[in-house]
Amino acid sequence: MSASEAITDRVKVRAPGKVNLALRVGGLRADGYHSLATVFQALSLFDDLGARAAAPGDYRITVAGDQAHLVPADDTNLAVKAARLLASRNGGEARYGVDLSIRKTIPVTGGMAGGSANAAAALVACAALWGIDINPDELRELGAELGADVPFCLLGSTALGHGRGDDLVPVLSRGGYHWVLALPDVELSTPAVFRRFDELNPDADPSPPPVPPGLLEGLASGDVRRVAENLVNDLEPAALSLRPHLADLLDAGRDAGALAGIVSGSGPTCAFLAANEDEAVRLSGVLSGLGLSRMVRRASGPVPGARQLA
Ligand code: C5P
Repeated sequence: MSASEAITDRVKVRAPGKVNLALRVGGLRADGYHSLATVFQALSLFDDLGARAAAPGDYRITVAGDQAHLVPADDTNLAVKAARLLASRNGGEARYGVDLSIRKTIPVTGGMAGGSANAAAALVACAALWGIDINPDELRELGAELGADVPFCLLGSTALGHGRGDDLVPVLSRGGYHWVLALPDVELSTPAVFRRFDELNPDADPSPPPVPPGLLEGLASGDVRRVAENLVNDLEPAALSLRPHLADLLDAGRDAGALAGIVSGSGPTCAFLAANEDEAVRLSGVLSGLGLSRMVRRASGPVPGARQLA
């Protein structure tokens, strides 16, 4: 189908960021990735993506939001790569075109899968815009070619991830979890954090350690304290060794009454789990006042994966 035959000329998709409730990391693999055992939870911190029909072969993007200047608005953007990949597998890039617009809320390079959320949204949006019939499993397989977190941004909710983090199984989770996310004013690149993990763990077993059983039990019963006690991130020592000031932020959140505080993914966002929504409101006020972060946001999870709004 060409763009002129598209079933609609405008699609809007919302995709969530994530926090890793557990991130267990094995040794470096020959392909440059690490084997993971991870539990993802999708959070109500969303990026919205609009897709409009454009002339065949024309792929464009604009980015809006506080941190838009940090996001490339060109072919290197993962959302454009996603659109081109979907097109190339369905008759060729020259058959389709799209004008993408992204409104960012998820912290940029924050360890919350913001770029992956945009790629997930672009896949869903372009499939709808171009009338491509692709099932969720196939879409997740395409997503995995773009990045390890893209399949989870498509799936959403709560899931256990193995392999690179892209081999997913849904996890039973009761209740809602209230988070405060604090983005400190430092940069941290995911590959650099994994490299530091390798330096700190030269003898890491190729297989990752298991996810704590108490975490899965806590999620299944909706016991926020049990979940808090079992949060774990094997990348945290690596992130702290590269950016020691993150420890001050984690301590501040814990001192202010968070049930637990962890570095989110490869960081530098720190995620604090609160006992309930009121506590999250209070905690976010305290953390905002401390001036240790460039941005403090509340979010709850789990929420659905990338989905079409209009
Ligand atoms: O897949 P994605 O592009 O999001 O990964 C970014 C980087 O994070 C990879 O290039 C790799 O250095 C690191 N990574 C890893 N093992 C994983 C996932 C990511 O080493 N399972």
